Amino acid sequence: MPANLEFAVLVEHLVKKYKDIIAVNDISFSVNKGEFFAFLGPNGAGKTTTIKILCTLIRQTSGISYINGYNTITNRKDVRKSIGLVFQDSTLDNDLSAQENLNFHAKLYGMDKKRIRERINYILDFIDLYNYKDKPVKLLSGGMKRRLEVGRGLLHSPAVLFLDEPTAGLDIQTRINMWGFIDKLRKEEQTTIFLTTHYIEEAENCDKIAIIDNGKIIAINTPFELKKLIELKDGDIPTLSDVFISLVGKGIREETATANDRMREFGRILKR
Ligand SMILES: Nc1ncnc2c1ncn2[C@@H]1O[C@H](COP(=O)(O)OP(=O)(O)O)[C@@H](O)[C@H]1O
Ligand SMILES: [Mg+2]
Repeated sequence: MPANLEFAVLVEHLVKKYKDIIAVNDISFSVNKGEFFAFLGPNGAGKTTTIKILCTLIRQTSGISYINGYNTITNRKDVRKSIGLVFQDSTLDNDLSAQENLNFHAKLYGMDKKRIRERINYILDFIDLYNYKDKPVKLLSGGMKRRLEVGRGLLHSPAVLFLDEPTAGLDIQTRINMWGFIDKLRKEEQTTIFLTTHYIEEAENCDKIAIIDNGKIIAINTPFELKKLIELKDGDIPTLSDVFISLVGKGIREETATANDRMREFGRILKR
């Protein structure tokens, strides 16, 4: 029986140094099973580095991390079986069809033959690509490709699905569609979701947010509780963007001025 089984993710005093850069600077946190968790922070904050450690792609300098109770250094095999991973940059094979990409992944994970077919059909339907399943991936739109990657990450029913900036590089309309899709994912799949983002509105709908900057976790709580941390002079209810600016001392990125607009847009979509 692995230790710390009650948490989907458990991190204790994690540090990652690259020569004189401290990419991850002594962070500790936990993610409950089934939780939708977000790492919110600007570029260079240490989000991807943390995910890479949790997914056993790199080793930490110090500290301990567990996925589903499995130690990410001493039990890499079990950790890898427990996770699905969607990175910023596509890792799909463009010449293969959507179905072939899924099939390849299923075989890589040694999935049972009968189960492969059922699960692939379910996933194709879930990501709304069933009718495109035989098309080479290079002919799919950016949003379709991203959904396919998420579907592939879910294929082997991982306990934890890591989504590293899943909407980065997409145009605004596609991004909005992806938010709707992530919301569906959250409602319909039981998996724990670990999302990283530098879009505040993307974190708004999570169960728990860790605000990360310069390799440090500045605050970690529900969006509701985070908003209680600050008070605005005019008595307005703070947005997450206000919280971020007040805790970190700067906006999350240049375009923050329009974040409220997008947040409203996001809220509208979720309420539909
Ligand atoms: N392989 C590497 N070698 C040196 N520095 C790195 C490496 N990977 C990341 N870093 C640095 O670590 C910091 C955190 O990077 P990263 O985890 O990619 O941030 P984020 O994903 O939040 O944008 C940055 O300063 C980045 O330049
Ligand atoms: Mg990153």
